[in-house]
Amino acid sequence: MSLIKKEKGKKVKYSLLRGMQDIFSEQIYLWQYIEEHARKIFDNYNFQEIRTPIVENAELFLRSIGEDTDIVEKEMYIFQDKKGRKVALRPEGTASVVRAYIQHSLFNNPAPQKFYYIGPMFRYERPQKGRFRQFHQIGAEVFGVNSPSIDAELIYMLKLFLEKLNINNLIYEINSLGCKNCRPKYREVLFSFLADKISQLCSDCKRRFEKNPLRVLDCKVTSCKESLKNTPLIVDFLCQDCKKHFISLQKELDEMNISYTINPQIVRGLDYYTRTVFEVTATMLGAQNAVAAGGRYDDLVESFGGPSTPAIGFAIGMERLIEICSKSLVIKTKKPFVYVAYIGSSVEREVKKVVIFLRNNGIPTETAYEKISLKSQLRKADRVGANIVIIIGEDEIKKSVYRWKNMKDGLQGEASLNELLELIRRRYDTE
Ligand code: HAM
Repeated sequence: MSLIKKEKGKKVKYSLLRGMQDIFSEQIYLWQYIEEHARKIFDNYNFQEIRTPIVENAELFLRSIGEDTDIVEKEMYIFQDKKGRKVALRPEGTASVVRAYIQHSLFNNPAPQKFYYIGPMFRYERPQKGRFRQFHQIGAEVFGVNSPSIDAELIYMLKLFLEKLNINNLIYEINSLGCKNCRPKYREVLFSFLADKISQLCSDCKRRFEKNPLRVLDCKVTSCKESLKNTPLIVDFLCQDCKKHFISLQKELDEMNISYTINPQIVRGLDYYTRTVFEVTATMLGAQNAVAAGGRYDDLVESFGGPSTPAIGFAIGMERLIEICSKSLVIKTKKPFVYVAYIGSSVEREVKKVVIFLRNNGIPTETAYEKISLKSQLRKADRVGANIVIIIGEDEIKKSVYRWKNMKDGLQGEASLNELLELIRRRYDTE
């Protein structure tokens, strides 16, 4: 990729890597709002934030997500560090949270242990609308609960989170992938079914068929999808316990008035799942329509050397969420509320004091840092969107009263600093 890129007639020396984005200006307020919204809701459900590193031992992901998945086969950012260790940029959050859960013996704390995270993930995918190489997830993970009540509660919490952002037209789909007792039998049946179709499958599927036939069901190639239309479904092979779990989940979702459909085709693109899996999609998003997804991973903690611990979680894709919200959710852009303009350099010290006084009293305040005319300062105040301008000259300092002007309605007057603060506070609180 060229480092020199032309942008609006200007030569830019360095530009973004493909599939990566800068988030700023109006957009950043939407991001902050949504992050804050997640924190509030997850707090109420007794989740604690966890921050894990962005770079981890690559094996952590290779082993948990699975060698035959698209993420591991094609999309990992893997490199060697200076000591030759194989490290990776995290492609998702679950594996790291599981590592932390075991490493810090969090299983000794009373169950359930509930964690949430917000942060960037990396997958070297072909970028397209809604698909990035650096994207962000808000994720939640719960450890130590076997009961399907937690599956239902997580889906409920996710729905609440989305609905409070005014997002309603979403499709909730669930499935069960069984467990280590019933899946091997299904695997055998699937294997025989696929053996008859093998010549019609793509080269990736031919390879996956041998090692992990379930992954074939996840193939995005149209001709494979066509050949797999009448595939036997895992829900028909669930053992008694998995069946009971799945039926109880449905009952709880019904009781919570959550509309969902059972989609037996959902296998998810990561290998660690057991029993419940779910996806939330939005048709308006086009091809990359999954806003959030998750499921149980009851064997993962044990397979990483921890005690046998049931677990479940989900992750929301921030970029896709923002795409849906950006029209329906109007967030007030933060602007300086007051602009302090001044006449003559002799008053600079006093101006600084006023600026600090206002800022310390919680009023977003801006001023001119360079020496420019009053006219230019007023123009600047208007351009940055300030609501009130305070004008300070030598006379004002002598009298200890300051001129002010409301930029929105044109009202103006004179007031002492404390009176000004009162006036500004009243307006700031109501606007
Ligand atoms: P996932 O389905 O791979 O699951 O990703 C979850 C969400 O992240 C997707 O539904 C999508 O919204 C977003 N996403 C994934 N890849 C991209 C991308 N390249 N560009 C933009 N958004 C993307 C997981 O990551 C699991 N760790 C979820 C989980 C948590 N399961 C249990 N606990």
